[in-house]
Amino acid sequence: MAQCPCKLLTLAAVVLACAASARYGEGFHLLAEGGAEVRIYAPHAQQVSVAASWNNWTPTDRLSALDNGWWVLRLPADPTRDYLLRRGAAYKIHIVSQDGQELWRPDPWSRKQDGETLGNSIAYSDDSFQWSDANWSMPDSNTLVLYELHVGTFCGHEGWPGSATLDMCIPKLDHILQLGANAIELMPVAEFDGEVGWGYTTAYPYAVEHAYGGPDAFKRFVNACHNAGIAVILDVVYNHLGPMDLPLWRFDGWFENDLGGIYFYNDDRAETPWAHTRPNYGLQHVRSYIIDNALFWLDTMHCDGLRVDGVSFIRSWGGSETNRSSATFNPDGELTLKELTQAARQLQGKMIIAEDLQDNATMTEEVSAGGLGFDSQWDARFHWLVQHVLAKANDKDRRMDTLMEAVLGRSLSASFRRVIYMESHDEAGRQRLPGIVAGRLDSWVAARLAAMASALVMVSPGIPMLFQGQDFLVRDSFSAETPLDWAMKAANAGTFSLHQDLISLRRNLLNTSKGLQGEGVNVTIDQDNKVLIIHRWYNGGPGDDVVAIFNFQRSFLSHQEVAFPFEAEWSPAFNSADARYHNMFTIVQEAERPRSTGSTSLYLHPYSCIIYTRRPPLLI
Ligand SMILES: *[C@@H]1O[C@H](CO)[C@@H](O)[C@H](O)[C@H]1NC(C)=O
Ligand SMILES: *[C@@H]1O[C@H](CO)[C@@H](O)[C@H](O)[C@H]1NC(C)=O
Ligand SMILES: *[C@@H]1O[C@H](CO)[C@@H](O)[C@H](O)[C@H]1NC(C)=O
Ligand SMILES: *[C@@H]1O[C@H](CO)[C@@H](O)[C@H](O)[C@H]1NC(C)=O
Ligand SMILES: *[C@@H]1O[C@H](CO)[C@@H](O)[C@H](O)[C@H]1NC(C)=O
Repeated sequence: MAQCPCKLLTLAAVVLACAASARYGEGFHLLAEGGAEVRIYAPHAQQVSVAASWNNWTPTDRLSALDNGWWVLRLPADPTRDYLLRRGAAYKIHIVSQDGQELWRPDPWSRKQDGETLGNSIAYSDDSFQWSDANWSMPDSNTLVLYELHVGTFCGHEGWPGSATLDMCIPKLDHILQLGANAIELMPVAEFDGEVGWGYTTAYPYAVEHAYGGPDAFKRFVNACHNAGIAVILDVVYNHLGPMDLPLWRFDGWFENDLGGIYFYNDDRAETPWAHTRPNYGLQHVRSYIIDNALFWLDTMHCDGLRVDGVSFIRSWGGSETNRSSATFNPDGELTLKELTQAARQLQGKMIIAEDLQDNATMTEEVSAGGLGFDSQWDARFHWLVQHVLAKANDKDRRMDTLMEAVLGRSLSASFRRVIYMESHDEAGRQRLPGIVAGRLDSWVAARLAAMASALVMVSPGIPMLFQGQDFLVRDSFSAETPLDWAMKAANAGTFSLHQDLISLRRNLLNTSKGLQGEGVNVTIDQDNKVLIIHRWYNGGPGDDVVAIFNFQRSFLSHQEVAFPFEAEWSPAFNSADARYHNMFTIVQEAERPRSTGSTSLYLHPYSCIIYTRRPPLLI
């Protein structure tokens, strides 16, 4: 757990010093006063040493064994050695196993790797970075709009061929600001094998991927986000580790059944759909490794939240990847998750989000009430249901009650206890929305249906999330090797404007749509006409109530009777069929608009969404 080496300071200084130097995790740590401390868990080792550039790679700096499996060493301040250390000396942990084997291991808590496969760890200090985000605070969850992105493919500029770095992400914040999203959900950045990947093969949970620029680049990025008013929620993977280039694998030489040794299960519980490397959550040193890591990202690295990957693979084992109902409950995993969410709560204003995908409200219930204590969780059911309806080739097969179910949620109905989206990296990695919804249909239909999907995400109760490029209708499926096609932003400028306007409403930037941040929701449907109406409110009143009306068919509805919730001055604030949302390549082939008959009923364009608010809109 966190250690605070400041007991001798005065009270005021303690608070300051602790805030600046809370230390998470073990392994090799440089000390503020010079020298270093090393703590390694290796219960089956005969001998543990640090071998490094300063001792000519000889295992002479030996750790002493405590009686609980831990080994410790205090390297005293030494001018010649400290000179090396502060400049990032390379080191490894040298272990002599029970049977006399010599094992050269990178530090499992390494903050920085030299980039080689199972290469050297690099001494790193947090003292050198000057944060300037002291005034930042995380927005309330009901005001968040998330944008999920992948550093390697999102952050390059137009025409950039290769994998981008975190420093290249900083100029890209302008795009997020222009769009209006106020939180980035960052795909994993912990050091993984190789230089290109989605990031879910974490080898060093405490190090930032060297190809992304390492720990200093990450700090510069988070600091820049906060100064731009953008929160950072980081994706972290604890349901398995590696399996490639994994320093923890058979760390001290011991293992059973050909499996991973002291940090992993060494029986059937080791097996996951990705690798046989499920951490053994039943062991205290493993839980600390994970929970300290969560706190490290939140506190040391200033992240505002975490998205915990594959929670159902932590709280259960076995079963199939896609159907978890036959999996076996794992009390150790559940304990780890509870400890994690409770530890994170000790830090102020952090948000812990589960990717569990089992429609199980227990995730976000309080630990004291038997829940797991997450603040929110991804709701996969929302996109399954909406996608199911959108993908139908014939309008008559689009079921409005299915959409109603998605909007209201089933178990996950409490508004901000779920994150809703149409695309995340997983969906976009298979096929992007326009391809799914359009099939062989015209491109204008694909654009219109995708726009309706985004409108549904923004007006339904939940924390909305977009995936990179969804805001300008990128069609290529997501791959870590293919930089985002930024040329599409100009080509599909209409779609980008549409997302700007939807997000402006969702964030209530014009003070006309507070209801989209409230818990109130009523849904009515007209199955025959394929019309869905969503009413949202916070407290209710002018500037608050919002009504969104969707027409899910290809034809123009000329006299649709719309049951507004009550009489009021409803004024249109958004229409997805508006000409300014058209794109360069989507020629709209709508039937001509029928002439007005003077009736009070509404005209609904083909495949469109109109949003009404209770105050005359300022623009339009
Ligand atoms: C933080 O806010 C305070 C008070 O508003 C201000 O004096 C200070 O300059 C701000 N600091 C930064 C780093 O913006
Ligand atoms: C998942 O598996 C369970 C038991 O193995 C089965 O009863 C259920 O129908 C499956 N669900 C789906 C959606 O396939
Ligand atoms: C929901 O999750 C909790 C906590 O892991 C578990 O006890 C419960 O059985 C789950 N409910 C369902 C329906 O799977
Ligand atoms: C909305 O209301 C806030 C708080 O009352 C105010 O600061 C802001 O200027 C208003 N914005 C607009 C666009 O009217
Ligand atoms: C929501 O719908 C229910 C049931 O139709 C109705 O009783 C209630 O008044 C509605 N709420 C609002 C604020 O319109």
